[in-house]
Amino acid sequence: MAPTLSVRLVGHVTLDVQASGDVAAQVQGFSVGLGKLSAAAAERARQLRAGLSLASFASARRPVEKEIHRFVRRLAARGLVEYSLGPARGGDQVVIEPQMPDYWPRTPRLRASDRLVLSRFAYLRRRADELVLESPRSGALFKICDPKVAGILAALATPQRIEHLRHRPGFPGLPLLALLVDCEILFRVAAGDAGLRPTEGDDSLVLWDFHDLLFHARSSEGRHANLSGGVYPYADTIAELPAVRPRWPGEAIDLRPASAATAGVRPSPMAELLLKRHSTRDFDAVRPITLAELAQFLDVTARVRSEQDTTLDLGGGDLSLTYALRPYPSAGAGYELELYLAVDRCDGLPRGFYHYDAGAHALTPIEVGGAALDATLAAAAIAMGATGKPQILVTIAARFGRLSWKYSSIAYGLILKDVGVLLQTFYLVATDIELGGCAIGSTNIEQFAKLTGIAFHVEGPVGQFALGRGASPARSG
Ligand SMILES: Cc1cc2nc3c(=O)[nH]c(=O)nc-3n(C[C@H](O)[C@H](O)[C@H](O)COP(=O)(O)O)c2cc1C
Repeated sequence: MAPTLSVRLVGHVTLDVQASGDVAAQVQGFSVGLGKLSAAAAERARQLRAGLSLASFASARRPVEKEIHRFVRRLAARGLVEYSLGPARGGDQVVIEPQMPDYWPRTPRLRASDRLVLSRFAYLRRRADELVLESPRSGALFKICDPKVAGILAALATPQRIEHLRHRPGFPGLPLLALLVDCEILFRVAAGDAGLRPTEGDDSLVLWDFHDLLFHARSSEGRHANLSGGVYPYADTIAELPAVRPRWPGEAIDLRPASAATAGVRPSPMAELLLKRHSTRDFDAVRPITLAELAQFLDVTARVRSEQDTTLDLGGGDLSLTYALRPYPSAGAGYELELYLAVDRCDGLPRGFYHYDAGAHALTPIEVGGAALDATLAAAAIAMGATGKPQILVTIAARFGRLSWKYSSIAYGLILKDVGVLLQTFYLVATDIELGGCAIGSTNIEQFAKLTGIAFHVEGPVGQFALGRGASPARSG
């Protein structure tokens, strides 16, 4: 008998259905309004605690099915449901936990002759006392409740024809395989496929190392449902590390007398700039940054200074390389970082979203919806705890393949180091030309993918910087 796919409320969520039909979800002390339901749909919605079969409303033929479908979609978009696959009467074989708000379980049609294999980005790990199957490419995490499923996954390390797989003990049924194909945890390969790496995805994916893609997807927002940001998860259990490292034993050489020798000397402009630099989170509501100031900022920090062609002898033939050198240092002179500007207020430049063409020193407008632009700017304001939006939000995006084409193991680490270098360059130049700015540590990689239409593994945000004319102390209160 084929296992049943059902949807249910996640453990900490309860539904509150009023006599009026108004429904709200209670989530950790918060109430989330979900609109109204008819009496018949409200009755069905009560089954969401134990689980409601997706097939029971998938056809959406009757009005109540349509209504419950829309309602479950609303719950799903808010991350309030999970899905279970298992025998109609029995425990879970697999629990599917969505990691992205638009995840919806889909079961693409599979043929007995299809050959499936595990993605090289998929991994099994222990989470508390559970076994979970994850991938940075997947919109959902699969909790494996039946050890036999783990056995089948192990077999899928090499390509398997479905018609052979289904004779293996513990075969979980086609729906699970289809769900895993949909999540790109499994993929189809042709018979005699010579290389699994090039077959899985496009050239941009081929260039990613496993650990780099996982790091990118898990250390940003948008593609996982884990806690993220400054939430002090260990404040109750582990003491804060001291702000300054405790001394090493042994006799230290005191540098203060040596520094005293230069005490009276006027600090260099660079030293002064470093001392003046600080983060600015609130911006002048009356006098925004001007286009001329923005052009100067981009020119000094990020414009291509020169291009160089070179040839490298790798033994097996010459390799032609081109470098586009810019004012800041970059690992291997790769200059993989691109600047995208979400402009809220800039005197002389219309509100909108732009790419900075560092070679031409020009801004190219990119068509995006007003709501998407607002959401990007609002997220930056929240990250800074600021009262208003930044005048300009610079998103630093990486063309990952520019570095991973050359570097094994260290490509993503180098990209993050380059981001640090560029952020300090931004801070110092903003200070120098009397603008204000603030680095922002968390970026939503899915929001950027939706804004630009570029897949998250091709080019994506790795840093942000809010820029504008700082609010004068009198105005900021
Ligand atoms: C990588 C990085 C990420 C940061 N992320 C944030 C952020 O998300 N929100 C924020 O308000 N400040 C952020 N900051 C700014 C720091 O809070 C700030 O540099 C620090 O408090 C020291 O203050 P100062 O920059 O004024 O000297 C970030 C700074 C860096 C370098």
